[in-house]
Amino acid sequence: MRAAMTTALVCALLIAGCAREAPPEPVAPGEPGLDPVSGLKMTGDWELVRASCSHCHSTQLVIGQRGSAEQWLTMIRWMQDKQNLHNFAPSVEQKIIRYLAENYPPTASRRRAALPPDLMPPNPYAP
Ligand code: HEC
Repeated sequence: MRAAMTTALVCALLIAGCAREAPPEPVAPGEPGLDPVSGLKMTGDWELVRASCSHCHSTQLVIGQRGSAEQWLTMIRWMQDKQNLHNFAPSVEQKIIRYLAENYPPTASRRRAALPPDLMPPNPYAP
């Protein structure tokens, strides 16, 4: 009897634990919240971007990228050229690009500088 009650209690706790929603991602004060579905910053025209940019690939591909308005436009043109992305009405395209450039602007490169030659291991292919 006792074992059955313990089992029932453990099961109830497990089920309750699984049903709990993941806590929202922490954001810095003053920063917009993140959409739990797409990860997009919930500000400005984010819903337009979610609707326009999530049916071919994950929005993780979008939010992992950075660029100026010009660079975002180049990416969109590349997708239109090579990946079957449809054209947007100019006013819609402008909103998408403004949102992307304001929220995912270029950042300093995170790659370290190349090592100076005297710190490099010997190159086995050097002539
Ligand atoms: C018609 C389908 C389609 C739609 C809609 C689409 N994309 Fe893409 N996108 C692609 C494909 C295909 C790739 C290449 C995927 C890969 O490399 O795995 C890609 C790649 C990307 C990349 C990665 C580029 C790189 O340099 O690696 C970014 C950023 C991106 N898309 C942003 C967007 C944004 C922003 C939108 C909305 C304006 C959007 N995509 C809408 C098809 C689409």
